[in-house]
Amino acid sequence: MYANSSRHSEEISLREMLPSVIARPMPVANRSIAESQPGPDVKPPHYLTAHYWWAYVHPRAVWFFERQWLINLILWGNYTRLHNAAMAELGDVLPGTTLQVACAYGDLTARLLQRVAAGGGRLDIVDVLPVQLENLRAKLPSGAPARLLAMDSAELRLADASYDRALLFFLLHEQPRDYRERTLSEVFRVVRPGGEIVIVDYALPRWWHPLRYLWRPVLAALEPFSLDLWRDEIVSWLPAALRAEWRKQSYFGGLYQKVVIRR
Ligand SMILES: C[S@@+](CC[C@H](N)C(=O)[O-])C[C@H]1O[C@@H](n2cnc3c(N)ncnc32)[C@H](O)[C@@H]1O
Repeated sequence: MYANSSRHSEEISLREMLPSVIARPMPVANRSIAESQPGPDVKPPHYLTAHYWWAYVHPRAVWFFERQWLINLILWGNYTRLHNAAMAELGDVLPGTTLQVACAYGDLTARLLQRVAAGGGRLDIVDVLPVQLENLRAKLPSGAPARLLAMDSAELRLADASYDRALLFFLLHEQPRDYRERTLSEVFRVVRPGGEIVIVDYALPRWWHPLRYLWRPVLAALEPFSLDLWRDEIVSWLPAALRAEWRKQSYFGGLYQKVVIRR
């Protein structure tokens, strides 16, 4: 659906609206994106330091993984497709307030920001690791309508119903069940009634998919909570009282899913 032409038009509108996006990145110290200071209560959750130190926590992990081709490889060549799926769902122009829960390697946030800027909106990005926020800050243009917020997704220090939409890109599979439930409740709380929550993550591949058998032991070893998403629907982790209108679309033989929840 997203052909080169739509990407091209995005680049043109970005160039018109945010000239600094196409400028070379400024030194981090000169950047003006608003940022919250990590509070004393913002500590990396145990699952991150125990299971994901190699991917996110260690400063050399950022250096190693911040390569689009590598993330694309890890996603079996589906990086652009999954980004496009998220963007297509959110829309070309995003006025109001948009929340991205957790940083992602690659250009996901920059692309989201183009759409937010086109709509005159604001983007808030939450992450629990300062090293990830710092990495993201270096990828965004100075003066962009974005705030980088050091917070835990399971305890968002954000007002009720203060966002028009939220995006969670490959976050939930990293979290143990109790954390995942708290994250979903929190996101549900901060998105306004009628707003949209877009989630892109792993799912159970179809029976004929070779990765159903080959990828399982890899995920079990490296991403111990991810197989929960092979067993249960994402909405099953929303408290029953919050179950809302939702739909799901599968990608790459079912290995990936996009779930859209209408608040
Ligand atoms: C959203 S996933 C992105 C996965 C995918 N590999 C990518 O880069 O596209 C990784 C991010 O989630 C963040 N994260 C994990 N648990 C979190 C939590 N409880 N609160 C906020 N951010 C969290 C990590 O710090 C990391 O920056």
